[in-house]
Amino acid sequence: MDATSSSNDFTTKCQTSERLPAQLPDLVKQAIPNHVAIIMDGNGRWAQAKGKPRIVGHRAGVKAVRSAVGTARKLGIKSLTLFAFSSENWRRPDQEVSLLMELFFTVLRREIKKLHANGVRLNIIGDISRFSERLQKQIRAAEAYTADNTQLILNVAANYGGRWDIVQAARTLAEKVAAGEMSSSQLTESALAAHLCMQNQGEVDLMIRTGGDYRISNFILWQAAYAELVFMDTLWPDFDEATFCQAIEMFSNRQRRFGLTGNQIEKIRNI
Ligand code: IPE
Ligand code: IPE
Ligand code: MG
Repeated sequence: MDATSSSNDFTTKCQTSERLPAQLPDLVKQAIPNHVAIIMDGNGRWAQAKGKPRIVGHRAGVKAVRSAVGTARKLGIKSLTLFAFSSENWRRPDQEVSLLMELFFTVLRREIKKLHANGVRLNIIGDISRFSERLQKQIRAAEAYTADNTQLILNVAANYGGRWDIVQAARTLAEKVAAGEMSSSQLTESALAAHLCMQNQGEVDLMIRTGGDYRISNFILWQAAYAELVFMDTLWPDFDEATFCQAIEMFSNRQRRFGLTGNQIEKIRNI
């Protein structure tokens, strides 16, 4: 049975005249999310609580990244997207920014072989043109080195902003319209989505934020439009396999409705 006929099948069973997206049955039955995004927050407070400089928290956060990647691999998550540095983080003191850049460089160099051995494909999302030439080179090399891996896609958001992402997609489309390659009437949601970062990885199913704050801080705005949100008090360096599994359990206990009613969702779940 192809995706279209299965979509028709559940459309009939749900007695709705609206055409439902073909992937809806899979999405509402999902116990393990395909795509998880994490706002890794709380490094600075973790260090300060121990009377140490903020960079100590960032360094400790690397261990939590390693653990999250391992857990994602173990659970069969397909894409893990980590917010490492936002387009707004340049506003921090120069010293913290340069230490973060140095840490990013070192971690890329140090971890890439292990990521590769574990079948992880690294994909940096964000405007990397603002980074030093040395760091850009390291990023490109790491991406190329792991390009053929298929176990897990690890998207690291660096100098990333959700608004930037939407604007860069809109700009590409505007250029295509100006060049006569497409008409403005072809500028649809799916056309725009096709030009965003991570465009072929599926939307974000679960978005976790550690560190106790309840906001999105200009992270993936479009791709997380229907994500389940989990906010945790745990500070990022303390995020381990148990914490990750707790978030996954919260996800699997939620009913994702995508605009439908709870009854409709139950019927789809039983098909
Ligand atoms: C998140 O931790 C890491 C980055 C933004 C680079 P923070 O550095 O924001 O830690 P807190 O929120 O100040 O504790
Ligand atoms: C979001 O954390 C960015 C990253 C985790 C990289 P911030 O600590 O920068 O967010 P705000 O400033 O508290 O919103
Ligand atoms: Mg923070």
